[in-house]
Amino acid sequence: MAAPVRLETERLVLRQPEKADAAAVLEILEQEFVRKYNCLGAPLTIEKVEGILNGQPGQLVLTRKEDGAVIGHVRVGMDDLRYKVEAVSLGFYLGEAYARKGYMTEALGQVIKYIFYETSAEVISARAFVENAASIALLTKLGFAREGALRRALLDSYGQVHDDLMFSLLREEYLTAYPPRLGDTVTIKMDRPIGTEHPKHPGLIYPVNYGYVPGLIAPDGEEQDAYVLGVDVPLTEFTGRLIAIIHRFDDVEEKWVLAPEGMTFTKEEIREAVHFQEQYYHTEIRM
Ligand SMILES: CC(C)(COP(=O)(O)OP(=O)(O)OC[C@H]1O[C@@H](n2cnc3c(N)ncnc32)[C@H](O)[C@@H]1OP(=O)(O)O)[C@@H](O)C(=O)NCCC(=O)NCCS
Repeated sequence: MAAPVRLETERLVLRQPEKADAAAVLEILEQEFVRKYNCLGAPLTIEKVEGILNGQPGQLVLTRKEDGAVIGHVRVGMDDLRYKVEAVSLGFYLGEAYARKGYMTEALGQVIKYIFYETSAEVISARAFVENAASIALLTKLGFAREGALRRALLDSYGQVHDDLMFSLLREEYLTAYPPRLGDTVTIKMDRPIGTEHPKHPGLIYPVNYGYVPGLIAPDGEEQDAYVLGVDVPLTEFTGRLIAIIHRFDDVEEKWVLAPEGMTFTKEEIREAVHFQEQYYHTEIRM
């Protein structure tokens, strides 16, 4: 999965760590508020924190727009508990002074949107000590389901053993609650790449890549279909902007039209590109 490198919310910028961030993050990690719900070894040093921030990809430092303050850290990593599934795990904390202001809801909301809109990840997981009421409330608010507890799972730096709760959010749960809209970035998988033959209509060769949004069920009970314009090579997966919706007056489903970021098409150009299939329906292109 391509980890996000920069995300923005109303009040925050989530960006890749810089060398100078380590001191602020160390200060946060040394707070009992954070330490009591983590298994960070002691003592922590600036070098160790630099190692954490610059180690694996997917590290995001949370900074506040208002004053540039580094307020916390989010880690977007691989979920090693799952097997042969595109599974992402989240780790997160912020400084005590910034808690209970909705910052982490805002930050993770954007991270989750990125993961399910801009990658094909199937599930996001997170873990929290059973005692961690804040984290449990946060994950529940974000729509995560509680899967169960790993009993006697972790020894913290105070010598205390904790049970660990497992949480997860499935792609289809998120996309059903927050379906992408015109202008959003969307990831699709291709079942009919450009140049392939239509399964039911021999001789009909796809002149564009045609695929579906995994996990987003359309009114016909199948995953939402989408055309890709502006790419003339066969694709297996594509992430691009939802530039148009083809509304079919005589069918239950709509078709989506995606294009690479920054590429524009007129209604006429879209109509022409999808004519091979849409000619059989009474349609309107909505942009
Ligand atoms: C867990 C943590 C990231 C939450 O961040 P936050 O920015 O304070 O959370 P938000 O303000 O967005 O609040 C999210 C929800 O959790 C609730 N919440 C926050 N702190 C809480 C607490 N101490 N007890 C109970 N509920 C709490 C909020 O009320 C809110 O729910 P609501 O809108 O329904 O009222 C933060 O408390 C933290 O960093 N804790 C220490 C480190 C840690 O535990 N990291 C996670 C390890 S799994």
